Amino acid sequence: MGVKKIFSGVQPTGNLHLGNYIGAIKNFVDLQNESNDCIFCVVDLHAVTVKQDPKLLKKNIRETTATFLACGINPQKSIIFNQSSVSSHSEASWLLSCVARMGWLNRMTQFKEKAGKDREKASVGLYIYPVLMAADILLYDATHVPVGEDQKQHLELARDISKKFNTDFEAPDFFKIPEPLIQKSFARIMSLKDGTKKMSKSDPSDLSRINLTDTDNEIINKIKKAKTDTNLFPTDTYSLKSRPEIENLIGIYSSLKEKKLEDSLNDFKDQNFSFFKDKLSELILKKISPISKEIKRLNADKGYIDQVLKDGNDKANEIASKKIENIKKKFGF
Ligand code: TYM
Repeated sequence: MGVKKIFSGVQPTGNLHLGNYIGAIKNFVDLQNESNDCIFCVVDLHAVTVKQDPKLLKKNIRETTATFLACGINPQKSIIFNQSSVSSHSEASWLLSCVARMGWLNRMTQFKEKAGKDREKASVGLYIYPVLMAADILLYDATHVPVGEDQKQHLELARDISKKFNTDFEAPDFFKIPEPLIQKSFARIMSLKDGTKKMSKSDPSDLSRINLTDTDNEIINKIKKAKTDTNLFPTDTYSLKSRPEIENLIGIYSSLKEKKLEDSLNDFKDQNFSFFKDKLSELILKKISPISKEIKRLNADKGYIDQVLKDGNDKANEIASKKIENIKKKFGF
């Protein structure tokens, strides 16, 4: 396989968690280390589709950048940049919104979930957010997009927009048709309190997630309090289907240990949950503590973070400004 062109993004809305790490950022690092061309974006234009406190947003943009760095993204190898600093994203988003169809957007389940019952009061930005995401990807001719399972439908939309543009403007190779890179297992990490709900930044209970900035004690406490049941430790994957909380915890263990689910179950044969939880906490601490410490160290070095973003913004701008000019030419501008 040749070099892949990778693009992905993370919203700077605070509380980046273990789901973001396992479902997305950990894979960004692997793809970078396999010598692909990687671009990782702090998607602040996506963040403002729901109201943000401007001061907090600035802090969160830096903290998300610090998280990328602390997890192992290397700015000498990959481009790390800030979406709102590259104006082509907004321009491309408008132009592609004239290609995307209402019917396609009406099908987006994440909008329905996020807007909830009060749909009329949701921002227009929240509704067309998948078009901005398509613009992000298509501006860089990305061939592969690593994301967690919850972004699958948005990527399908990006592919549809790309194909329609190429057909409408009779330019078969103008946009690439990006491939989603979604892990077969562990692409959806669930809440520690409810195994049927996704682990999420916006869950009001902090006990539902392991934040990448949690202290060791917080992590140990959250795993201790994570929901289990009174049945024995499972012996086969089949029985996990009706035990979503247990499946999630063993999934987190397996993913961080880079083991198959079956092999993890074998490791804990005849053990109880308290023994398993101790081992799970140990493993999370081993993986997350160094990241958490590095995020804190980098957060204190604003000058360095801002320089990383500035360099990344310049590089991203160079690529995106050429593509947007060609997109505009296709429209006849
Ligand atoms: P965001 O910021 O909600 O999440 C960032 C990444 O983390 C993954 N993720 C999860 N994976 C597994 N389990 C979970 N519980 C979990 N929660 C979040 C997400 O799937 C995502 O990969 N729209 C995107 C950001 C975006 C983007 C893009 C991504 C904007 N432009 C272009 C790829 C390409 C979002 O809101 O992700």
